[in-house]
Amino acid sequence: MTNAAFHDIVSEIRRFAGTAKDLTSFQEFCVGIIAEGLPDYNWVGFYMLDAKDENVLVLGPYRGAPTEHVRIPITEGICGAAVAQEKTVIVGDVSAEPRYLACSLETRSEIVVPIRANGKIVGEIDIDSHTINAFGADDRSFLENCADVLGKFLEK
Ligand code: SME
Repeated sequence: MTNAAFHDIVSEIRRFAGTAKDLTSFQEFCVGIIAEGLPDYNWVGFYMLDAKDENVLVLGPYRGAPTEHVRIPITEGICGAAVAQEKTVIVGDVSAEPRYLACSLETRSEIVVPIRANGKIVGEIDIDSHTINAFGADDRSFLENCADVLGKFLEK
């Protein structure tokens, strides 16, 4: 995928942030534009920390196959690892990753990027691909830019 596509998507997300009426509609826009624009991004979704229990992630808007993982403790999964380690986690081959919680049998690789608001992790963007080793430094940088826009939106 080209940096031009990443650049265009981040620009659209920034533009939408100025008019989004609430977090859910903004997240719906983000998962749509990311999933439609990037063919290797086969599952695109948000998990947000539960306001009543900050040790649990709750599934938000997503595109892709339905998942049974609607609530994930931060002690579990690649999703939990990104919160616990407070950093982006890239898994090139999920079959070799003991922490991996399966969503779809087709998934081969995954990237999870924390979203921070006021310096604190509030959730994450989770992407699965049917392609092995689908995610590299450009994907990380693109998704961290998206997460920054989301975080700033939440700080308002
Ligand atoms: N694979 C994730 C679980 C979420 S689903 O992929 C949508 C994990 O290991 O945490």
